[in-house]
Amino acid sequence: MSETSPAPGGPSIDEQAITAAIDAALAAIAAAATTSELKQVRIDHVGDASVLSTANRAIKDLPKDQKAAAGKLVGQGKGRVQKELAARQQKLAAAEEEAALAAETVDVTLPTDLRPRGAAHPLTVLQDRINDFFVGIGWEIAEGPEVESSWLNFDALNADPEHPSRSLQDTLYVAPEGSGMLLRTQTSPVQIRAMLERGAPLYVACPGTVYRADEIDATHSPMFHQVEGLAIDKGLTMANLVGTLDAFAAEIFGGKPITRLRPNHFPFTEPSAEMDFRCFSCEAREGLDHDADPSCRVCGGTGWIEMGGCGMVHPNVLRAAGVDPEEYQGFAFGLGIERILMLRNSVADMRDMVEGDVRFSQHYGTEI
Ligand code: DAH
Repeated sequence: MSETSPAPGGPSIDEQAITAAIDAALAAIAAAATTSELKQVRIDHVGDASVLSTANRAIKDLPKDQKAAAGKLVGQGKGRVQKELAARQQKLAAAEEEAALAAETVDVTLPTDLRPRGAAHPLTVLQDRINDFFVGIGWEIAEGPEVESSWLNFDALNADPEHPSRSLQDTLYVAPEGSGMLLRTQTSPVQIRAMLERGAPLYVACPGTVYRADEIDATHSPMFHQVEGLAIDKGLTMANLVGTLDAFAAEIFGGKPITRLRPNHFPFTEPSAEMDFRCFSCEAREGLDHDADPSCRVCGGTGWIEMGGCGMVHPNVLRAAGVDPEEYQGFAFGLGIERILMLRNSVADMRDMVEGDVRFSQHYGTEI
């Protein structure tokens, strides 16, 4: 072994201390259980302040004859320590990676919590289809609020102050009494709103929810949906109305579209009519020279299905909405969306539409 005892008056290194430091480093390396523990071991045993590094720096100041032996001792020791560190680092890192992979493993073969997919409500699907038709013929879609003023729901639409539809039996009013507000009973007030907001000429379809003081049963509901059509322009006649309804019937029901008008009365149209479409389901759909199937469930053997009201917009309504009846004429119609769905998709009971059973939506709401 080299001479490492202090030379008188000169620097020296302590061989025992170096050997002990090497042993301590090797023991600490073997004892490190994680890469972060090992990191600390590296700092403590081969870092700048460690015994080995300090000794290494001291070598250059040793007397010449001691340098080689001290260099060998420290260099070899440090080399061994570094080698062990690297080997341990590799082993620990591999073990840690393996543990992490095991912990993060996703077993793709495990059964999942299958959430059944919902479906658009059939009324929504139908309403979209109706909107698409109107947009397709160049009309705009207009909407209005469901809580409406009684002026727009009745007065502006030329309803007599004594009109029975205003009664509490038919209409749901909004508290407090005398607020002048109600849940709209029809989409017709959107006609007035559209004329006031957009002016003439005007082609709008107004879909929306309406409310009436009805009990729910197979054919009635206190809440249902309508789509209102309104065209205001110069020189419009009932022929334009029938043409529009024919195109609508062809789009929604198919078959040979034939619209029939029967006289009726609505306060907001003059003349007013009830509109029927030729049955799209039985023989009657082939035209007027074909008889209806007497047992047809859609038309009841009459060959006709009742679709709603229509007419030429009353001059008083045009005036209430700021449109000059001398210059512009218009036609309007109102269709019940639930009724269309019932006829078109053979839905027998209106209650199915509000119960919220997803199977109903899945069955009727999927358009092919
Ligand atoms: N608003 C009417 C109702 O709810 C339906 C209706 C009839 C609308 C004739 C119209 C129309 O636009 O011209 O019963």
